[in-house]
Amino acid sequence: MKPFSTASSVCLSLILAGSLIGSAEARNLRLSHNQGEDHPVHKSMQWMADRVSELTGGDLTIEIYPSSQLGTQRESVELVQTGALDMAKTNASELEAFDPIYAVFNVPYVFADRDHFYKVITGKPGKEILQHSRDKGFIGLTYYDGGARSFYANKAINTPADLKGLKVRVQPSPSAIRMIELLGGSATPLPYGELYTALQQGVVDAAENNETALTNSRHGEVAKIFSEDEHTRIPDVLVISTFTWDSLTPDEQKALQQAADESLAFHKDLWAKDIEKARETAKNEMNVEFKEVDKEPFRKATQPFYDEVAGQSEETANLLKEIRDLE
Ligand code: GCU
Repeated sequence: MKPFSTASSVCLSLILAGSLIGSAEARNLRLSHNQGEDHPVHKSMQWMADRVSELTGGDLTIEIYPSSQLGTQRESVELVQTGALDMAKTNASELEAFDPIYAVFNVPYVFADRDHFYKVITGKPGKEILQHSRDKGFIGLTYYDGGARSFYANKAINTPADLKGLKVRVQPSPSAIRMIELLGGSATPLPYGELYTALQQGVVDAAENNETALTNSRHGEVAKIFSEDEHTRIPDVLVISTFTWDSLTPDEQKALQQAADESLAFHKDLWAKDIEKARETAKNEMNVEFKEVDKEPFRKATQPFYDEVAGQSEETANLLKEIRDLE
């Protein structure tokens, strides 16, 4: 007797062919970002990657390239626009250079507090903004909380007057530059990865960010006073190339969006815990001093900015109004 009958060998060939087709159809998406693997945003995106694989039975997977291995945030978004890269995590501030609508996130004190911020990013204005850049070659899948941003330097920034004559590193974005102008400092746009050395060598005197910059990016080694004026709450944004998005099946799109939405909720808790840890580490292990400051003078100095962004287009004016209404 032959080991296999004709029928069973046909069957076997079909199974083999099926599994080959199956694996040929499995998609692996590449995602680039500029934080390390110990950063809460990386952990939340890893959670999303695991979840999407689970939801699709391994048909759709995401491979994350941290620490700017595939380029700076700007370079990564440029690659996403051409479809050479599938996904990137960037920041709403940098996205303004790609789609001016993102300027609304850069308006100082536009969010009353963390609750208001979450209402906006999970509500109608947040969703509209994520879809807005479709004709620029990418759309947003979700935001990630990036906390409140404050100034840090080797001197206290108690009032805007303390910024006079200081070179302040900002994200490469027109609004970030304008904010420093209004506060009386001198803005120096730099990619995040260059900031540690710039602070260490005195290329810049100050920077502004959330507390993870002090610990995860070790800026607390070279800047010892964190002055909590909390001028902005600018979210990180996970974007996907429209070429990639449009090539996914409706089921894959659904799974990916679900995993992204769930990772935003996962991140909300993680962020609160990790930011507490970052503050403790910065204080106790790096001797960083946290200074409470009166926010009013900062708010006053940057007030003209709200009208400037509202004046950019009817869309930004409407969005800013919707954001206010959610307060
Ligand atoms: C935050 C954000 C980064 C961004 C950085 C910056 O840390 O998570 O995406 O690059 O700010 O100030 O450049």
